[in-house]
Amino acid sequence: MDYLHIVGGHKLEGKVTISGAKNAALPLIAATIIAKNSVQISNLPNVQDIKTLLKLLYNLGATYTYNQNSSVQIDTTPISSTKATYDIVRTMRASILVLGPLLARFGQCEVSLPGGCAIGQRPIDLHLKALKQMGANISIKSGYVYAEAKKGLQGATIVFDKITVTGTENIIMAAALAKGKTTIINAAKEPEVVQLCEILHQSGVEISGIGGDEIVIHGTAGELLEIKPFSVIPDRIEAGTYLCAGAITQSTITLEKVIPAHLESILIKLQQMGFGILVKNSTITIKPARNIQPIEIITSEYPGFPTDMQAQFMALALLAEGTSIIEERLFENRFMHVAELRRFGANIQLKGNIATIIGPTQLYGADVMATDLRASSALVLAALAAQGASNIHRIYHLDRGYENLENKLNALGAKVTRLQEH
Ligand code: EPZ
Repeated sequence: MDYLHIVGGHKLEGKVTISGAKNAALPLIAATIIAKNSVQISNLPNVQDIKTLLKLLYNLGATYTYNQNSSVQIDTTPISSTKATYDIVRTMRASILVLGPLLARFGQCEVSLPGGCAIGQRPIDLHLKALKQMGANISIKSGYVYAEAKKGLQGATIVFDKITVTGTENIIMAAALAKGKTTIINAAKEPEVVQLCEILHQSGVEISGIGGDEIVIHGTAGELLEIKPFSVIPDRIEAGTYLCAGAITQSTITLEKVIPAHLESILIKLQQMGFGILVKNSTITIKPARNIQPIEIITSEYPGFPTDMQAQFMALALLAEGTSIIEERLFENRFMHVAELRRFGANIQLKGNIATIIGPTQLYGADVMATDLRASSALVLAALAAQGASNIHRIYHLDRGYENLENKLNALGAKVTRLQEH
């Protein structure tokens, strides 16, 4: 198993190029299941979660080839199996994204139930309820979701009781091939959902309300789509994490290939903390703060402050001159990083879903353990700011979602080495 050895206290400088968004690429790869052609996707991040989903498709019978420039060609026409097995789904919850498209194309499928994970129980009841409303028979047996819609899915009006990103994406893909009109009320508005809608729209599916909380889709009644080549949008969470790396080291760095509009809530919080932000076309430059101000954050759905940036801002708040409050509203157990941050010397009080961070803290290098993807990146940030050396263990979590993390950080002047546990 690999771990990262980080010598903290170094200023960063220069430019970093942001990769394609993992959470946009995952539903888009799943959407190739409802394509009649071989689909070319570029700006694909080279991260473990993407490889896992490609392997899942391969196991179903699809083929894919990597081309140059982070692009992949996926052909799902030879799919012969409709069973997403436990061994893959258990390694990545987002595998549930194949449920909607498999059911829509084949009229039946079996997908292993994704279990809970480090950040919470994460049920899929809303995905299943919506598919039932579209005419699917759904049962759960021996840890698998069995879904059947022999005569095809029917358009329906779906009201999500809670905003769900992958739930919305699953239903958008299912609705694209359903008969008639589907209206999704209380849909997720994340840029990743928007890109999925746009690509399906460009592939001939009639979709309106893109980017809003009510999406209307007229399905093709089973006809597969001609999906043209496209490029994945930049990763706003990777971008936010690098902005925090610049901030926590009080450095000036520039992010390239970003969509600044997707980062608005993050940029506002950084400005409130006193950091300079310069936006120019597809670049963002962050500059040091004179005094780092404490912050109040409540996570929420897009365009609110993303839960996927909560841990990184907690690391940053450790250096703020005063008391910061962070409230996690999306996941019930997304504070696993608190115990690890305390190893660096953090003073954090936890009460339910509210963390009170008392700064400023002098951080000292420590041995810490990554617990989930974004929690891990918070540990890397704390290590960059800490005095002395740190070891971040179990970094397979980081490899799921951050492309080339140590190389990108080292190119900015950090001292990060990937080593192997004995
Ligand atoms: C997506 O997860 C992201 N994953 C997560 O990113 C992200 O944290 C999350 O959205 C919130 O923004 C992908 O896009 C692949 P939800 P998702 O369904 O879709 C509850 C990362 O680090 N809920 O929007 O699984 C749920 O428990 C990952 O990259 C139900 O109750 O999240 C949660 O409290 C981690 N029933 C809330 O809704 C359901 O059927 C929002 O979850 C579905 C969800």
